[in-house]
Amino acid sequence: MTKTLHELAHEASSCTRCRLASGRTQVVFGVGNPDAGVMFIGEGPGYYEDKQGEPFVGAAGQLLTRLLGEIGLRREDVYICNVVKCRPPGNRDPLPDEIESCRPYLAGQIENVSPRIVITLGNFATRVILDKQVSISRIRGQRFTVEGRTVIPTFHPAAVLHGGGEAGSQMAALRSDFQTIRQILEEPVPVGAGSEEQLGLF
Ligand code: URA
Repeated sequence: MTKTLHELAHEASSCTRCRLASGRTQVVFGVGNPDAGVMFIGEGPGYYEDKQGEPFVGAAGQLLTRLLGEIGLRREDVYICNVVKCRPPGNRDPLPDEIESCRPYLAGQIENVSPRIVITLGNFATRVILDKQVSISRIRGQRFTVEGRTVIPTFHPAAVLHGGGEAGSQMAALRSDFQTIRQILEEPVPVGAGSEEQLGLF
């Protein structure tokens, strides 16, 4: 293990590796159980996250918290973070070099928390973790194995909230993916986990 979560968070708190440093109120590193079995990875902090220093505290975060509750989990039971730790201006998409600058922090979070299940929320987190230019609407709900961890891509809660005509079906899909998390948590931990398809990246 290279650095502890605490060391990584400390280092990130004054990070100037990319241009997002200049527009942030503060770095939004991650929250939750440092030994969580389930990790959620979003895209990047929004307005409220940047102000409060905690991921997923705005409307999308409230939906995430509610969905966790529906499967008997609290925010403190899981670990929640983002691909980029600083708010992109005007909530624009993170740029490839910003994602690359932040990647060591995310890799360190995954290594330290070592979750059994990684839930990627939306296209950005999914593409970073699977290292493939996939489309979330095509692969959501499928199980992948990356370095022995089960990875399940699902819709980003913000996309579901703003989904227009698709919102109902996307919400149903998101709920069903949370049920999959519950199911996996109830399954015994497989011996020699990681023997399936490997998409090594972390
Ligand atoms: N959207 C994200 O991707 N992350 C957050 O922390 C909040 C909204």
